[in-house]
Amino acid sequence: MAVRISKKPRVAIVGAGNLAGALGISLRKAGYRIELIISRPGAASVQRARRLAREVGASAVSATHAQIRAGLVWFSVPDAAISSAAHSLLRAADWKGKIALHSSGALTSDELRVLQERGAAVASVHPLMTFVQGSRPTLAEVPFAIEGDRKAVRAARIIVEDLRGQSFPIRKERKDAYHAWGMFVSPLLSALLAASETVAAAAGVGRNAARQRMLPILKKTLANYARLGAPRSFSGPIARGDVGTVRKHLKVLRTVPEAREVYLALARIALRELPAKNRAELEKILKH
Ligand SMILES: NC(=O)c1ccc[n+]([C@@H]2O[C@H](COP(=O)([O-])OP(=O)(O)OC[C@H]3O[C@@H](n4cnc5c(N)ncnc54)[C@H](OP(=O)(O)O)[C@@H]3O)[C@@H](O)[C@H]2O)c1
Repeated sequence: MAVRISKKPRVAIVGAGNLAGALGISLRKAGYRIELIISRPGAASVQRARRLAREVGASAVSATHAQIRAGLVWFSVPDAAISSAAHSLLRAADWKGKIALHSSGALTSDELRVLQERGAAVASVHPLMTFVQGSRPTLAEVPFAIEGDRKAVRAARIIVEDLRGQSFPIRKERKDAYHAWGMFVSPLLSALLAASETVAAAAGVGRNAARQRMLPILKKTLANYARLGAPRSFSGPIARGDVGTVRKHLKVLRTVPEAREVYLALARIALRELPAKNRAELEKILKH
């Protein structure tokens, strides 16, 4: 069980993008003082950092001029920039005793090794949530996958608790698979919805109308999934064993070949994992 530190560390956030915005606001609400929003040099980047800094009561500074006094530095930059951002801040602080976190789902705390070598405790702290422009979700109830140095993990767990999120441990070697899972539940779900709109077009329904008309069934499916789980929220021709209907779908989907591939892959998973009738026959027609 984590030992609660009496004083919340002051925080510096590197980056001012989608995650940084949600994180900064939630941390502030939870009583953390955000000291700095650190950007890359460049007028547009500094401008974005200033905007966020104003919202969270912090100062904005570019990495080249940063002097970090905060005890905790949270890297909210794209995955590919975490290591270089850490390098760019080597001289911005005495890293001994500081905590450095990043929020990549795929990369491990090793990405911050250069700061660890200078005495910082490092961890990766990934919120299983989607952050897009124009939406700053609360972090309450959000699961956070955490791994790293013991001290940094302990600090991260306390912060997540303060944010009313749910922390859980993830093994370094499992992060690739963990992030592939995350990819399914939001980005690929959005891609599935985009594919659904494409298929709707084949039925003569435009994208906007399709979106409106899909929403009730989508919401109900998600609500059923939440309440009953995947097998009991599964309906349609595979559950009923209606081979003729599936055959017709496969024929008409030849006009949208990528959507057909998705249909085949998901239908095969349905046959394996969900309740289905006429399995043998369905398996045969779902081979290609
Ligand atoms: N978005 C999500 O749904 C989500 C969910 C969970 C975890 N994450 C993780 O959160 C992290 C940030 O993702 P995001 O979606 O917030 O990205 P984002 O919206 O693209 O924002 C990235 C920010 O980093 C800044 N930046 C880039 N390189 C930098 C550098 N070297 N030094 C300082 N700032 C730099 C960018 O600034 P300028 O371009 O203005 O210079 C921008 O403000 C990633 O590790 C990602 O995996 C994201």
